[in-house]
Amino acid sequence: MSSEPLVDIRGLKKYYAAESGFFRQLLGREEQVKAVDDVNFTVAAGETFGIIGESGSGKSTLIETMLQLERPTDGKVIFDGEDICEYSSTELRSFRERAQMIFQDPYETLNPQKTVFQSIAEPLKNFRDMDHEELRTKVKTTLNDVGLNPAEEYIDLFPEQLSGGERQRVCIARAIVLDPDLLVADEPLSMLDVSLQSGILRLLDRLQEEHGFAMVYVTHNLSVVQSVADRIAVMYLGKIVEQGTAEQVVNDPKHPYTRALVACLPTLTGDRERVLLPIPEDDDDRDIPGCQFHPRCPDAMEECSRAVPALDDSQTDRQVACFLHHEVTEADRDEQPSGVGSTAESESRVTSEPQ
Ligand SMILES: Nc1ncnc2c1ncn2[C@@H]1O[C@H](COP(=O)(O)OP(=O)(O)OP(=O)(O)O)[C@@H](O)[C@H]1O
Ligand SMILES: [Mg+2]
Repeated sequence: MSSEPLVDIRGLKKYYAAESGFFRQLLGREEQVKAVDDVNFTVAAGETFGIIGESGSGKSTLIETMLQLERPTDGKVIFDGEDICEYSSTELRSFRERAQMIFQDPYETLNPQKTVFQSIAEPLKNFRDMDHEELRTKVKTTLNDVGLNPAEEYIDLFPEQLSGGERQRVCIARAIVLDPDLLVADEPLSMLDVSLQSGILRLLDRLQEEHGFAMVYVTHNLSVVQSVADRIAVMYLGKIVEQGTAEQVVNDPKHPYTRALVACLPTLTGDRERVLLPIPEDDDDRDIPGCQFHPRCPDAMEECSRAVPALDDSQTDRQVACFLHHEVTEADRDEQPSGVGSTAESESRVTSEPQ
């Protein structure tokens, strides 16, 4: 494994124009949804990087922007040493060969008019010079690879003749047929029956072992991300609030939001310690001063509504964006308006555990 990361995301932003209400239009205020807001992370060759967050936290936008399916508002996506945001559409072609994606919905991903052979052969036709016999042989090998055996029984079927799990396996076959360096999976289990989910997870695990690709795995399910990922980033309203190894993030969560997610994990007894308030729907509630999580945070301090805690990158493998864990908390508070953050009350709360 080279010391350079395969993927290096720096200051990535994707803002969308929000639907404006009548009064906002009248006031001439341009509203934006900061779907991805200054995100940084790296993915090493061969590793699995998990991204977890609730619905609306910006996970899909992040990976679509990373893969240049959406052009970023700002920031860099360095892939194998080159900023692909600078690439022309012709240059992006070689990147597309090396980075593949599995989508949430195998029903939508596959063209109903195309056979399994046609769907899996399509990327080969685009990027490889193979005759029909070579294509059939390669597609059959790949079908065997994803557990659709015997391949002859599947290769000429249409999507409607397949079960949900089989369709997702065809999507995975299509994604790995070019032997990519990076596989990005956006909630690949969420449309599948629970009984099929662990089979797909085991398949991805085996394929990664055999082919050695790096994987970015996006989900709202902490148990799943814990089982697949080497490292995890926790997203909240467009920002990464915590990042670390899967072990660190799940067994020793630092950010109050991650703690709440972990507390929401089902236990053997079925009890949950705490139920999270939903993410605010109203855009006015989303783009608030200070830490975006503070209105829902059980440990919010006064400074949390005044300053935005940066992801503390003083430790490379473990990062938290929270004033409870900010290493330079006092210096941060000195930056705040007078009287904020230096009270005895907030001092005591810095060290207190969440309820
Ligand atoms: N094309 C778009 N135009 C405007 N706003 C958008 C667009 N795409 C996403 N958004 C907004 O960006 C925010 C993040 O959405 P995104 O789909 O990335 O979240 P997510 O974490 O993938 O959610 P889910 O778990 O439901 O898939 C949401 O507020 C969403 O409404
Ligand atoms: Mg999504």
